[in-house]
Amino acid sequence: MSFTDSDSYLGQDLADVDPDVARMIGDELDRQGDTLEMIASENFTSVAVLQAVGTVLTNKYAEGLPGKRYYGGCEVVDRVEQLAIDRAKELFGADHANVQPHSGATANQAAYMATMKPGDRGLAMALAHGGHLSHGLKVNFSGRDYEFHHYGVSRDDHRIDMDEVRSKALEVRPAVIVAGASAYPRIIDFGAFREIADEVGARLIVDMAHIAGLVAAGVHPSPVGVADIVTTTTHKTLGGPRAGIVLSSEELARDVDRAVFPGLQGGPLMHVIAGKAVALGHALTPEFRARQQRVVDNSAALAASLSGAGVSLVSGGTDNHLLLVDLSATPLTGADAEERLDRAGITVNKNGIPFDERPPTVTSGLRIGTAALTTRGLGTDEMTEIGAIIAAALDPAAGEGELAELGERSRAIGDRFPLYPSLRETAAIPG
Ligand SMILES: Cc1ncc(COP(=O)(O)O)c(C=O)c1O
Repeated sequence: MSFTDSDSYLGQDLADVDPDVARMIGDELDRQGDTLEMIASENFTSVAVLQAVGTVLTNKYAEGLPGKRYYGGCEVVDRVEQLAIDRAKELFGADHANVQPHSGATANQAAYMATMKPGDRGLAMALAHGGHLSHGLKVNFSGRDYEFHHYGVSRDDHRIDMDEVRSKALEVRPAVIVAGASAYPRIIDFGAFREIADEVGARLIVDMAHIAGLVAAGVHPSPVGVADIVTTTTHKTLGGPRAGIVLSSEELARDVDRAVFPGLQGGPLMHVIAGKAVALGHALTPEFRARQQRVVDNSAALAASLSGAGVSLVSGGTDNHLLLVDLSATPLTGADAEERLDRAGITVNKNGIPFDERPPTVTSGLRIGTAALTTRGLGTDEMTEIGAIIAAALDPAAGEGELAELGERSRAIGDRFPLYPSLRETAAIPG
């Protein structure tokens, strides 16, 4: 590729400038539409969000906060960021919002930096029981910079063991207790965490990354106003661009803001913040609230279909957007099952289950979520059918032929709900 002047450099279409990248983007668009996407942490964001993210806002440096920047020319991006902040506060009923974190992990890093000194103790859910690596895994910044201890779920019902949370909190005396998970299918009782945090004099941070959309819609109890700091990603159930947000009380506002910048980040991604503003605006609509209810209804329908077909679920079911299949009593590992479902046209991820005896690269479980397919328009009838497809694919007796047939069934369901038809029509994909 060569450019003779700045006009041709600035003005050319991606397909002309770089057909390789254009083709890869087209291939990914096809992949997302041709399979049933059931990774619980994923969703399909709107074309409106994609448009906001793909704009000239990416060119702008805006270190600082609206009205208090370290660069000139910020009058327009100030309006964009203030709108995102106002919408985040309104949506979640928060006193303060920082919309600059580039991701969920960075949002957590900012929350820790605002409440702990290096070496301080934290108490969070164990990764092996459904927590996230940014909740104190040894190889993660959180486990290196702070001394994290962990609680888990109880063996009998797979619910968070609040007695263990309390006894560990009394023993460890953490500066911070973290509630929130990546793979927990049940409602989290934030009030119970608050009581324990108060008893031991700890701050409470809730990481609601997975359930933020449900919380925004009132389908899951809100941690805002209960926790000192609430972090979230914006791309899971919330359905926005890939990024994070930190919400806090007024008291911690300055510490949170200073942790994000200059503590952790340089210039904010203004194009992504515009995408967050669009997604948050959408989340304020009745249409979004109704969709979040459907996410949960779909998850319940899928759980009923799987259980009815004899598939075992961690905790016996689900209250939210995800469920965990327990394969420990079958000859299949999580890795085998992920591969089988892939061949049956369904994209999921293998996942450790509580008390898993297999390593994280193999596991004895699958994590399955309904947010993305609900956004695509699928309802409970489709979930019931998908449950039957998954159960059939997890039958160890199913061979290549059966899996290919199941793949056709999945494809037929997806075809009834075209994904991004406008993008597929207009995608300038070189042949
Ligand atoms: C509970 C939780 N917190 C934080 C994160 C991290 O988000 P990101 O991948 O944007 O850093 C995740 C991601 O899956 C998550 O599940």
